[in-house]
Amino acid sequence: MTTDSVGIDAIEIRTGKLELDLAETFAPAKDEDPGKYTKGLGLRSSSFPDVYEDIVTMGANAAHRLMERKGLTPADIGRIDVATESAFDNSKPVSTYIAGCLEQVFDEDFHHANKGERKFACISGTQSLDDAYNWIRAGRNRGRAALVIATDTALYARGDAGEATQGAGAVAMLIAEDPSIVELSPEQGIGSADETDFLKPNQQFPSVDGKRSMKVYLARMREAVEDFESVSGDTHPDDFEFIPFHTPFPGMVRKAGLLGYRHIIRGTEIEEELAEEIGHQPHPEESEDDEAYLDAVREYTDALKETDRYREWYSQVIEPTLGISRHVGNWYTGSVHIARAAALKYARENGIDLDGKQLLVGSYGSGAQAEVHAETVVPGWEAEIAQLNIDEQIMNRYDISYEEYEQIHDVHNHDEEADAEPLTAPEGEFVFDGWGRMGERKYTFVE
Ligand code: HMG
Repeated sequence: MTTDSVGIDAIEIRTGKLELDLAETFAPAKDEDPGKYTKGLGLRSSSFPDVYEDIVTMGANAAHRLMERKGLTPADIGRIDVATESAFDNSKPVSTYIAGCLEQVFDEDFHHANKGERKFACISGTQSLDDAYNWIRAGRNRGRAALVIATDTALYARGDAGEATQGAGAVAMLIAEDPSIVELSPEQGIGSADETDFLKPNQQFPSVDGKRSMKVYLARMREAVEDFESVSGDTHPDDFEFIPFHTPFPGMVRKAGLLGYRHIIRGTEIEEELAEEIGHQPHPEESEDDEAYLDAVREYTDALKETDRYREWYSQVIEPTLGISRHVGNWYTGSVHIARAAALKYARENGIDLDGKQLLVGSYGSGAQAEVHAETVVPGWEAEIAQLNIDEQIMNRYDISYEEYEQIHDVHNHDEEADAEPLTAPEGEFVFDGWGRMGERKYTFVE
């Protein structure tokens, strides 16, 4: 028997245990105005892994808490998919390392769970959700659930403009039949093209054309929305309580949100109502040439941004999705999933009833591809979201100095031998424990 109701049943978020304060520590060291970070990029701080943390420990610690909390054993899990762009092995997937960690603390093993690793920059977290969804909808899961873990240490080379947007953390999600948080829509839109904007050709830190990457993000996202509408019908602002986007930094989502709003109000009563204030949206046939048309679109968009109607929509639908991200930075594959979690957390804390309401989720990965799908929030979401302890984790991070930042950055550069002392003490968690005889990384659970 297969069911139509498949989606996210539980979420756990694990942040790296160190905090780099961008306004107080990073900006002064770079001789920059803190406003660039807090206002321009929209970021207060970044999360970093301590010396004993990495993509495996963060993923395993998130998955461990999730399984314990839900009372699951390895026999309940038929699939473990890890999405990452920070892998340290081109053959053995990170999911095997994570399963190995979990087997240290559970009596059973994961020998009958299908394990893999997904790669397509940041969008692979959502692609792994897709794989799990399809596996369950195809009826191949034998009543079991899938564990999807998006885990990254999103570090840039020192001196790269991307250094401002770093972060590290993991999101573990349980994908199951009759889920307790959201059901995924079968409809999805894709916007995909061969792009050279952000890549890691067998190197630890990315080669990035930052400004171009922002344009590519917006172009692919627009394509994905149009593709989604071609199967699900036109979207309207009233259809969605929240729109979580891939969030490399909140300033990027500010741009995506504005263009998205312009798109979804086109031809609606909202465009009509706003016309008195800012006119109608320009049409290509009304302009002399392409350049004139683009100027007219820019002018309309600038005016739209200043309207009360848009500002109110943004503060209700988009701003709540940024609540975690602005304190932790870019987590690559996990980023859109912390945006969803932030929105649900905000709704719970503000008494917003989401039962049966829709989210529109916009994922993105450089290289480049965007994906858009809808999710329906299901009863039970509040109890699940109440279990998140991400605020506590964020608050308890160790605040690093710029010198400590430089040391930690070296530790997580796979090419360099770096010897640094941990800045925090591990407790009740998996830790990186040195190298094995075949060059494998080894892990232990510390009580
Ligand atoms: P930059 O040149 O250092 O920053 O690079 P900037 O000078 O453009 O300033 C950033 C913003 O702050 C601007 O806002 C400034 O005006 C503003 P905008 O004009 O764009 O709205 N600003 C200030 N505001 C107030 N007070 C001030 C002040 N100073 C400046 N004093 C860049 C920024 C994003 C390019 C860089 O950080 C970068 O290269 N980041 C990495 C690439 C990236 O994140 N791209 C995003 C889209 S691609 C993506 O999301 C995929 C990704 O996650 C990877 C994957 O898929 O795997 C990255």
